[in-house]
Amino acid sequence: MSEKQALRIENLKKSYPGVKALKGVNVSFNEGEVHGLIGENGAGKSTLIKILAGIVKADTGSFFIRDEEITIRSSKDSSSNGLSFIHQELNLVTYFNAMENIFLGHSYPRRFGPLVDWKALKKRTQKITDTLQVSFPLDRPVSYLSAVDRAMVAIARAFAVDGNVYFMDEPATALTDIEKEKLFSVIKNLKAQGKTVVYVSHNLDDVLQITDRITVMRDGAVVECKKTSEMTKDTLISSMIGKDLESSFPKRLGSPAETLLSVSHLSNSHIRDLSFSLRAGEILGIGGLVGSGRTELLESIFGSRALFSGEMLLEGDSYKPSSPKDAIASGVVLVPEERRKQGLVMSRSIFENISMMSLADLSHGGLLDHQAIKERSHEAGDKVRLKSADYRNHVGTLSGGNQQKVVFAKTVLQQPKVLMLDEPSKGVDVGARFEIYSIIQELAASGTGVIIVSSDFNEVLGLADRIVFIKDGYQTFEKENSDIDQESYLNYCYGRELS
Ligand SMILES: Nc1ncnc2c1ncn2[C@@H]1O[C@H](COP(=O)(O)OP(=O)(O)OP(=O)(O)O)[C@@H](O)[C@H]1O
Ligand SMILES: [Mg+2]
Repeated sequence: MSEKQALRIENLKKSYPGVKALKGVNVSFNEGEVHGLIGENGAGKSTLIKILAGIVKADTGSFFIRDEEITIRSSKDSSSNGLSFIHQELNLVTYFNAMENIFLGHSYPRRFGPLVDWKALKKRTQKITDTLQVSFPLDRPVSYLSAVDRAMVAIARAFAVDGNVYFMDEPATALTDIEKEKLFSVIKNLKAQGKTVVYVSHNLDDVLQITDRITVMRDGAVVECKKTSEMTKDTLISSMIGKDLESSFPKRLGSPAETLLSVSHLSNSHIRDLSFSLRAGEILGIGGLVGSGRTELLESIFGSRALFSGEMLLEGDSYKPSSPKDAIASGVVLVPEERRKQGLVMSRSIFENISMMSLADLSHGGLLDHQAIKERSHEAGDKVRLKSADYRNHVGTLSGGNQQKVVFAKTVLQQPKVLMLDEPSKGVDVGARFEIYSIIQELAASGTGVIIVSSDFNEVLGLADRIVFIKDGYQTFEKENSDIDQESYLNYCYGRELS
């Protein structure tokens, strides 16, 4: 492996009101290396990347490419120096199509003066999608595309630049395993061509698998930089959070009581004849592969997806939500997978976002109790270790993972009867993950019934009492967690019973 530096960063500093996001970072990335950049939520990873992209202005700092100093004042400076980006927030223009998004900010090929040469644009786009081995609709506004396809568009955009260093900030959170493997093979190819990939992720297994070297950041500073072969998951975690994490899953509190929710023969275009029940204080896992209907099942119970047939009973009474609003009023809450998009109002304060669903409880005689809102929001925020200088700031100023914690804080404040969680730990750092698991356990111990969907089967096995498996929308197995191990879990997901 060559040890030539592709990019060196010296003494990079950036402060926001009340936060030192970067406190003099020194780091270098070599040619032909995949370099992991990890750290807790709010450690400063995205800030560093946004500065390199010319989106955020640094307070001080110098950048060198092969020992020659460069300046980055704009995105143009950044791309002309061969820096290319997949940002944590996809930043797609939803009413533009994939091609327009991919080449946004670059000059589109033109014909007859100002007219975009769509044929030429399509050709260029197809070259990129061929490299990535993906296909998605090119002519439709991206708002019509699936979450996976939108993520692939954002990835494809990085390849519109002829890059030398590719920064990938949590590129895989919305991808299925199949697309993730494709991305990894693209990364391997880049490396083989002598290019550099900087890979940011909270999925430490992925980081250990694909990187050559890893830099760990904590509180705006680099705390460690080592060869991946010298690191393990445990050493990475203790270097990230500054202490050892004793176990990944908190101890189970309490035990399930009487039936809380029962669903029978639920069917629509994605799910077929699903029947099961959930007890108060129980954590029920829904096992299955991506696309098996897990998310659609949660949405059907939440009233955001219509049912063709089926019945639901909540505490013995008929439960027929025609919208999420109905569901929430009945005490049924869903923390969706795309939390940043579906669960938050970016231009509102952290206070407002945490308390907005609970305002009825936090007001007296029609007047808001501001003191109570403040106290309860802070209490809920502290519980999820939300890191923020000031809860009056817009949610949009938080780091990606901290934004997700706001959605949890909001849920905790609502004290739901039924809590449904879709991929609860995506984008959340290991320390906070443990906190979130503890909150789930505490809510269950206080009588909330929890339904959890996760692509990380260790998470389901670590939390659930019982697991209902679905495949292609059909219910295949229902098992006590104690009867399952990792191997049988996967087999059940594929619809196979071990003999
Ligand atoms: N526009 C902003 N205004 C105020 N504070 C900000 C702004 N952008 C980032 N910050 C703060 O800077 C710190 C670093 O945030 P950053 O987004 O770099 O973290 P991160 O390491 O990417 O975390 P995550 O893993 O959650 O994505 C955080 O405390 C964040 O709240
Ligand atoms: Mg980030």
